Amino acid sequence: MADKDRVERLLASMTLEEKLGQLNMIDAGAPPMGEPEMERQLAAGRIGSLLNIHGAERLNRLQKIAMESRLKIPLIFGLDVLHGHRTIFPLPIAEACAFDPELWERTAKASVEETTRAAITLTFAPMLDVCRDPRWGRIAEGPGEDTLVTSRYAEAKVRGFQGKTLREGVAATAKHMGAYGAVAAGRDYGSADISERQLAEVYLPPFEAAVKAGVAAIMPSFNDVSGIPATAHGALLNDLLRAKWGFDGIVVSDYTAVVELIAHGVAGDLVEASALALKSGVDIDMQDEAYVRGLPDALKRGLIVMADIDRAVRRVLTLKERLGLLDDPYASTSAPPLPANNHDALARDAARRSAVLLKNENSVLPLKPDTRRIAVIGPLGDDPLQMFGCWFAAAGMDSATVVRGLRAALPQAEIAHEVGAHIEEPGEAGIAAAVAAARKADVVILCVGEKKEWTGEAQGRGHLGLPGSQRELAEAVLAVCKPTVAIVFAGRPLTLPWLFERADAALAGWFLGSEAGYGIADVLTGAWNPSGKLSVTWPHDVGQIPIFYSHRATGRPAAPNVYYCNRHADLPIEPQFHFGHGLSYTRFAVTKLSATPAEISGDEPVTIEAAVANEGSVAGEETLFLFLRDPVASVARPVLELKDFAKAMLKPGESKTVRFALSRKDLALLGRDLKSCVEPGEFQVFVGGSAERCKLVSATFRYK
Ligand code: NOJ
Repeated sequence: MADKDRVERLLASMTLEEKLGQLNMIDAGAPPMGEPEMERQLAAGRIGSLLNIHGAERLNRLQKIAMESRLKIPLIFGLDVLHGHRTIFPLPIAEACAFDPELWERTAKASVEETTRAAITLTFAPMLDVCRDPRWGRIAEGPGEDTLVTSRYAEAKVRGFQGKTLREGVAATAKHMGAYGAVAAGRDYGSADISERQLAEVYLPPFEAAVKAGVAAIMPSFNDVSGIPATAHGALLNDLLRAKWGFDGIVVSDYTAVVELIAHGVAGDLVEASALALKSGVDIDMQDEAYVRGLPDALKRGLIVMADIDRAVRRVLTLKERLGLLDDPYASTSAPPLPANNHDALARDAARRSAVLLKNENSVLPLKPDTRRIAVIGPLGDDPLQMFGCWFAAAGMDSATVVRGLRAALPQAEIAHEVGAHIEEPGEAGIAAAVAAARKADVVILCVGEKKEWTGEAQGRGHLGLPGSQRELAEAVLAVCKPTVAIVFAGRPLTLPWLFERADAALAGWFLGSEAGYGIADVLTGAWNPSGKLSVTWPHDVGQIPIFYSHRATGRPAAPNVYYCNRHADLPIEPQFHFGHGLSYTRFAVTKLSATPAEISGDEPVTIEAAVANEGSVAGEETLFLFLRDPVASVARPVLELKDFAKAMLKPGESKTVRFALSRKDLALLGRDLKSCVEPGEFQVFVGGSAERCKLVSATFRYK
């Protein structure tokens, strides 16, 4: 609980300039006013927070300048700690594939140990943008296509970042509120012209989950939501977020998003833009100085009143109080440094749990312990910088590559490496050497994909194939006809049907972070039985996008050999790989699904039980998904909706019962009036290892 009196006393003593200073966040790495002027403004209390800078000594020096200002209000230091700070964990889209909230929380906690030592008090994470369009580069930064998974991820990350009280963690920011993942054609910053139903059913629940988990900050997205830029969306930020959900933290704009309201065409000048954002609920203005420059005139023009400014300042001061900054503004420089490899074991564990085995034929994996000659071929086989993906603020320049991981795992094997092709530039000069290496090898590990710079912000892609001459390289190597394992490194699914057809095995290697190569080697050698499952449907072709498992039922559902149905004439109906797909070195069978009691009413829960058995010869972990379908409702419902997931670790021959419970709230839908309701009738439940409908077992129950 914040000390409200203290905040009010401080607020009462502030001048207008000092108040606006608290709402002004500046990029310390690129201050628009230059560094000397930035320091002068810090000393005058004209800047309330900084971003893009870390390190206790540097930050303490800047904090000291701020603490010399008249009111001695400390700064907040913000940084994007999306998937690690010094130790880099898998990209969020990859870590989501572990389907493991405990892991999601642990990696956030580990990052906090590193960021708090670097004096960071606010992180711009977690990113909670549900995304069903892998053309969008930022799909890499979030946990994929599903609303429930994103909500669970939100809760785990908020717990991990913030701890029990903010004094022991860093403030988390749930971002980017406003259907950012739905921008048209996957082009960043574009318009998300979507229905209110979709907004409420698909894109907003993860933000509500973050608020319920106590998230300290929210960042609106850059895009407009059906015509209203999120930064100026009072209905989202005031009415829904604050009034309905009860959010009491800060709303921080995205980078220069306030001034961009002019380019959006909803504000005529800086004064209008700043007034509009403030009135719409944005407390902190990041980087464009729109508030300090625009709000004084907005007051004069009567667009805002002082109470609007006070409200935002009060929230910022309250956060500073909750973070403990008003008592102790400085980061400890005497805390013993973390041992250099402190989180390596966790990063390796996260990496191997996040890799997804997409295909495994001809018993090529796991690699036999006596494999003598391995050729690692491709531009992503031994490039340590690439393994990070987007956002790797304080990481060193090194990570474990596949070559390094395999050399450590199989010291007796001869591991040759040929780059073969540049990651992006065309050129076939390296292909001959790669083919020669493949000829000499017992097994080929083909490491291809997109470069990390193509993941994240502003990296929309129109083609999802391999850039440069990588396809030529891969085809030449496949033509050697050696057992070949393709590892696809990317921040999104790549459409490579020819590769998935011809390689004996394929692994989604994403960008798995500092320990990527060790985690991948664990999977390739069987030291870790792969357990990752796709957090996103993997298309065959860009033309299938958007493709996702929880699409609505249609009057003419897609069906093989049916002419007038919901299909493309020139593309398969099915995706390349379903949501939840991911192979193991063992086989699991799910049977005996029951839903009891067969009829429920009121708040009575229904218990869903299924038996899962390990029918193979090695121990393994299966993730089971519980899907719901409401077959007759007042509004057409998704064919499958994820309601829960659970894990079972099973020895060979072992069987376990997995139990789920659903209650009234899980059956709710938004009626025709967009109000939540539960409609009586039959419900179907489906349980299985992925969203591939024909492999799911089902049962029914009724709600009265
Ligand atoms: C812009 C990005 O959209 C946002 O996600 C990030 O937090 C800010 N820049 C600050 O780096």
